[in-house]
Amino acid sequence: MPGAVPASPPADLVARVRTALGRVLDPEIRRPVTELDMIGDVSVTEGGAATVAVKLTIVGCPAADTIERDVRAATASVAGVTDVAVDVTVMSREERHALTEKLRAGRAARGPQFGPESLTRVYAITSGKGGVGKSTVTANLAVALAARGLEVGIVDADVHGFSIPGLLGLVGPDGASVKPTRVDDMILPPVAHGVKVISIGMFVDDASTAVAWRGPMLHRTIQQFLTDVFFGDLDVLLLDLPPGTGDVAISVGQLLPQAEVVVVTTPQPAAADVAERSGVVARQTGQRILGVVENMAGLVQPDGSVLELFGSGGGAETARRLSAGQDDEVPLLATVPLSIGLREGGDVGAPVVVSAPGDPAAVAIDALAGQLAVRARGLAGRKLGLSLR
Ligand SMILES: Nc1ncnc2c1ncn2[C@@H]1O[C@H](COP(=O)(O)OP(=O)(O)O)[C@@H](O)[C@H]1O
Ligand SMILES: [Mg+2]
Repeated sequence: MPGAVPASPPADLVARVRTALGRVLDPEIRRPVTELDMIGDVSVTEGGAATVAVKLTIVGCPAADTIERDVRAATASVAGVTDVAVDVTVMSREERHALTEKLRAGRAARGPQFGPESLTRVYAITSGKGGVGKSTVTANLAVALAARGLEVGIVDADVHGFSIPGLLGLVGPDGASVKPTRVDDMILPPVAHGVKVISIGMFVDDASTAVAWRGPMLHRTIQQFLTDVFFGDLDVLLLDLPPGTGDVAISVGQLLPQAEVVVVTTPQPAAADVAERSGVVARQTGQRILGVVENMAGLVQPDGSVLELFGSGGGAETARRLSAGQDDEVPLLATVPLSIGLREGGDVGAPVVVSAPGDPAAVAIDALAGQLAVRARGLAGRKLGLSLR
């Protein structure tokens, strides 16, 4: 009966339920479930009881609960629907294969994921040494960019100290990183605070394995992250790289020649030397230095005085040195103060830019996001997403 008489209320309701389901996104692929062929039969009885068949990509899909809940809510939101039943099954091998082919085809039509044709802005966040807050800044910057409506991804390639999953709360009760979902040989990056995240920490069982990695293995891993991980159309990709110079900078130069480098340093003038060196190596591999971020700057005390634990001027000094002899000046993009909120937010996986946006460090990082967001290559006027028809 449904569909037989076009004007009959149930047939109209089915169409309206399907329209509503078009607003449900797969939380990992971040495309409407309707475009991903995840919605099967939809029926509505004369009395308004809707039944929706949902096909998940894999058994035990971590997003299953979210998808079921969102499908239920979207269906229930349609006027005239009085009751909702969601019938969850799993795609057959053939259906899953067809889906990954479809996703790949969308990508192939636009060139490699982050190749020269890509519209994604790639920012490599580097530092001369560890512990300057590179990862903390990267994680918060990504969340701030996503909060501004951009599609954002992070590649955490810091083998010696991958920390992005923890900073964004992508860890289980045992402290281990959540694992990405695999659909056949396609890897779906977990999403936290609107940011798609892939980390070396998601692929190793204990940290000591990763530390022993040498250049070629790192190069292959970064390459795999950039090819097999389905990021979809990103506006911005942030790379959290190991501190210092060398192998990874060269790999990034080869794999992502359009990457622009942001150098993070502390206010300590003596640190400007190592920070400068990391920038110079990036430049030698063909990357452009976008600017410098000074982190751990003065902390305003309750009495109004400023505690400059790491001195002052290191950021400006690094920018000055990196500008020497260049046509384009390398600016100091942001000064992020020392902040207990920033540190605590990182410890519990609740980035300060969302958990306490008024915190001075959050304000500084959000202003940095504002500068980078307007630089994001506009996709305006382009049809976003995959053409699945
Ligand atoms: N502005 C800041 N104020 C207070 N603590 C900070 C700040 N930036 C970073 N931290 C803390 O410093 C430590 C090192 O930061 P991290 O981001 O891991 O550095 P990196 O990635 O450069 O090694 C972390 O414990 C972090 O919480
Ligand atoms: Mg780090």
